[in-house]
Parts: sequence; C-alpha cells; structure tokens
Amino acid sequence: MTETLAQRFPRGFLWGAATSAFQIEGSTSADGRGESIWDEFCRVPGAVAGGDTGDPACDHYRRYRKDVDLMARLGLGAYRFSIAWPRVLPEGTGRVEQAGLDFYDRLVDALLERGIQPFVTLYHWDLPQALQERGGWASPDAVGWFGEYAAVVAERLGDRVRDWITLNEPAVQAFVGHLDGRHAPGIRDLATALQVADHQLLAHEAGAAAVRAAVRAAQVGIALSIVHVEPATRDPEDEAAARRVDGGEHRWFLEPLVGRPYPEDLAAWYDARVPDLALAAGRGLNEPLDFLGVNYYTRHLVRASAEGRLGAEREEAPGLERTALGWEVFPDGLRAQLWRLRRDYGPLRLLVTENGAAYDEPVKDEQRRRYLESHLGAVADALADGVPVEGYFAWSLLDNFEWAQGYSARFGLVHVDYETQRRTVRESGRWYAALVKAWRRLHAE
Ligand code: FCB
Repeated sequence: MTETLAQRFPRGFLWGAATSAFQIEGSTSADGRGESIWDEFCRVPGAVAGGDTGDPACDHYRRYRKDVDLMARLGLGAYRFSIAWPRVLPEGTGRVEQAGLDFYDRLVDALLERGIQPFVTLYHWDLPQALQERGGWASPDAVGWFGEYAAVVAERLGDRVRDWITLNEPAVQAFVGHLDGRHAPGIRDLATALQVADHQLLAHEAGAAAVRAAVRAAQVGIALSIVHVEPATRDPEDEAAARRVDGGEHRWFLEPLVGRPYPEDLAAWYDARVPDLALAAGRGLNEPLDFLGVNYYTRHLVRASAEGRLGAEREEAPGLERTALGWEVFPDGLRAQLWRLRRDYGPLRLLVTENGAAYDEPVKDEQRRRYLESHLGAVADALADGVPVEGYFAWSLLDNFEWAQGYSARFGLVHVDYETQRRTVRESGRWYAALVKAWRRLHAE
C-alpha cells in the first residue's frame, strides 16, 4: 500500500511534521519568557475548554532532544516549528532574552545533527501580552515590532536556517481572534479585525525584508489557512456567497501577497464598514513570496444569509464523514485548492504546511491513518495535475494544546499522556514513517 503511494512522490519531496510553540512547549515562565496573549486568554473563564493553559503542554521545552530523536525515528526530513516571540523579546520589543533564543539555537542544532531541515515559523499566534497592551495587531506599530523581532531571530538562526514562514494563518488570527473572539485576544469587532489583517500583511512584508537582510539564501513564505469553499446549491445567491467567503478568507490575503491590491469585490463589500486600511491605497506587498504554505483541513459549504458575516452562513451537510471536531473530511478539496493556487497565483512554489485531523482514538487510529492517506493521495493527484507541490507537513507531530479546545482535541501522529509525558507513536505515525521509508528506498542511489 505505502509502496504505491510512495511512487507518486518525486525525488526531493519534503516529508515533515509541524507544531507551534505555545501548543507544545510548556515552561511558560522559564528562562525569562514574557507572557503571551494566549497565557492571558487562558485565564478568561470559559475561553478554553477544561480551563486548560499552556502548561504543561508537551513539556517540549525540556524534552526537545527526545522529541527530535522521535522525529528521526519517524524518518522525517523536515520539521516546522514556531518561535515564541515572548521568549525572545519578553516585552515584545527592546530587550532580547538570550536564554530564550538559546533554546531555539539548541533545537536547530539538534535537528541538523539528525539531518532534519528546520522550517521556522516566526509567528504562530502568541503575541507578547506587553504588545497587546500597546494595541496589539490593531496598532500600526505592530508592523515595526514584528520587523524588529524577525531581525533578532534571523540574525541568530540564519546561519543554519534557510526556510522561514513569517506568519501562520493571518486570516484566523484576524477573524477568529478579533471578530469571533474565540481566540486570543478575544476581541469582537469587524473594523479591528480588518485592521489586524492589514497590519499582519504589512508585518509579513517587514518580516520578509528583515529575514532577507540577515540571511543571504533565505527562502521566505507564509502559511495560509485554505478551506475548500463551495456553494451549498447552484442558486446564484449561494454562489455569490461562496465567492465572498473565499474572497474574505483567501483572496484578501493572497492578492496583496503576490503584489496586487485587495480584491475589488471584497473591498466594495467592506467599503462602508471599515476604516482606512493602509493596503487599501491600491498597492500590494513588495517582498515576493519564495513559497506559499498551505494549511488545509476541510471544506465549507455555504449559502447566502442576510445576517451572516460576508452575507453567508455555513451549511452542515448531513451524512458526511467528519473528524472529532466535526470538520468534514474532504480530500478532493486539497487537490482542487492546490491547482487553483497554482492557476491564480503561480508560478509559485507550494508546500502543504499543515494537514491532519483530530480523532479520539487512542493509539490504534485507523481514522487518522485514512485521513492522511486520502489527503496525501490528493497531493499526489495535484502533482499528477502538474502542480509543483514540494513538501507535506503533517499536523501534528504530537497531541498538543488545540487553542480554544485545550487538550481535548488530539491531532498527533504521536499520542501524548499529559500526566506522565509519555509519547506513544500511533498507528498513523507508523504508517507515515513506513511511507517515508518506502519513498526513500525508491530514491536511494
Ligand atoms: C490550524 C493551526 C494549528 C492547529 C490546527 C489544527 O489552524 O494553525 O495551530 O491548531 O489548525
């Protein structure tokens, strides 16, 4: 089985897994780390399931060596992780905490010793709380703050790290964090959310420039959340609603990232509802993307609705296979989206920077294995369609802190017992390792 699938991936394909700092590290007050907006958000009653917090998570801050050994045992060729901004700059700007930087230095060395290529995400949602108190991402100053932070990290790690992801899923950070209020910092205001998105796009530009100034051969990208959006019916109203949702979640970010202004249909839709946005002056961003990271999980069926955001609402089609979080399993959407990204924004190097599923099965996780197999099949289909996908990162290496779901949702190739911190490779993890092994055998000299 794995043989046939392995054959569909070319030489040089990158096999990875992904995590993020707040979700796995724990040790939230070790070595001078400052607080992040997620530490603060976890204290809000009812904000996070079970009242869970960033401790102990996977205690990865102390167990990173063993975790890197585990990656090596799984045969991973690449690992995507994020840097905790509040470990590096506890106040967000200014004073650098060397002990925090030292951790990532050791982690990078451990990865390289085992031949695992590091992909560094600079920002995966854990803004220093000190900066939130100065306005957070809604402040235009956030662009400069991020540029300063990116330079500090790139100067320290850039002699060994080539691949950089500036921001993880700016749309989720903007809209789930500042419109729905379900993520930190828990704000509910459309104008704020759009300003946050605007500043994050500009921060991407500033961060990319900082990384490129510090690292000669840097490859700089961004990871976007890409959902396969489809209209629930052929009714033109529903089709227009689906186009707006795709526009608000995807094109609003993709267009500026490839140097074009905000999409006109959405700008017109938002027109009366938002204040001035810096990027609305009709310019796109200046720093070109070396690659686009695609985080893909599911499909959304939408229909027109006067009350819903973007004049749309989700339709829960019955009878479809779903994960433990209720997310519809829809691998063809990944193939379709990769093709579409290439068509509309190419030529562009593409990497699947996250894909995976939450299931409650402990270690014999047949459903997760099937999810991974079908989605890797979709990536292989995209390759056969001529879409140049260069790598795949499973979300996630370990069970971890799943934001508002706390520790209740498990996404790991590896099961974590949070009490003992014991790691157990799941069957899906063994399957993934076997696939990578089969692929390596095919491409052995
Ligand atoms: C993505 C996030 C990641 C993880 C997965 C399940 O939106 O980037 O941190 O929570 O969803």
